[in-house]
Amino acid sequence: METALVTGANRGIGYALVKALVDSDFRVLAGCRDLENSVGLKKLESSGSIQILELDVSSDESVEAAARKSPDRIDIIVNNAGLMPERGNESIAEIDFNHLRSAFEVNVLGAARVIRSFLPRLRRSNRPRILNVSSGLGSIAERDSSTYYAYAVSKAALNMLTRSTAFEFAPEGITVVAISPGWVRTDMGGEEADISPEESAAALVEAIRKIGPNLSGKFLDRFGQTGKYVW
Ligand SMILES: NC(=O)c1ccc[n+]([C@@H]2O[C@H](COP(=O)([O-])OP(=O)(O)OC[C@H]3O[C@@H](n4cnc5c(N)ncnc54)[C@H](OP(=O)(O)O)[C@@H]3O)[C@@H](O)[C@H]2O)c1
Repeated sequence: METALVTGANRGIGYALVKALVDSDFRVLAGCRDLENSVGLKKLESSGSIQILELDVSSDESVEAAARKSPDRIDIIVNNAGLMPERGNESIAEIDFNHLRSAFEVNVLGAARVIRSFLPRLRRSNRPRILNVSSGLGSIAERDSSTYYAYAVSKAALNMLTRSTAFEFAPEGITVVAISPGWVRTDMGGEEADISPEESAAALVEAIRKIGPNLSGKFLDRFGQTGKYVW
């Protein structure tokens, strides 16, 4: 049985992904920064389906402590925790730099921290995979507006982290991809979005099943396919 770590697992896409992975016979480590804010996860934990890890991706100490409490081997890391701190229509002339800082802290440094701290465990897997949950808003080539500065700039940086780590880890067979979950009805995606968290999660599980070194360094859609998203 493979073990998957999902960050930001208490709500939205992360929570749906935890449930879908459990239903697909993965062992799941559910990272969550606020244990009081994880009623659904607690139910899953009491039924023995998952292990909850207190994990604030913006804190070195929290991520290190979570890694120490984890099993010796992890096969899959899903860097899902994410933040969209702004309204979206701000001009660069009035941008709040704290939005840029917080988006980078969670969306970029958060993923880097998790990779760094969990790497020894990932290296014990026969089929190690890292999925960085990105967004079409992180695509530079497709950019056609000036909305969501902090979020978009941070996801573009996450894409570069993905591509760079893919090259570093290629010799040891660790697959690293950026993956878009689609436009999903969550607190972040809003009610008008195209798909439910469950639909997104079902596709992501299939992607997790199939990705391997041939897709490392790619920007994938939620089904694990290339072609829809460009850097
Ligand atoms: N929804 C979409 O349409 C869409 C589209 C493209 C990409 N994405 C990406 O998909 C991922 C999940 O998005 P979502 O729609 O599920 O968002 P969401 O409903 O806003 O949930 C965000 C999750 O991230 C967690 N999080 C935020 N800061 C954290 C931190 N410092 N440490 C640990 N966890 C933290 C939140 O935990 P708390 O409850 O503690 O705040 C929550 O569990 C994100 O990376 C997002 O950028 C979403």
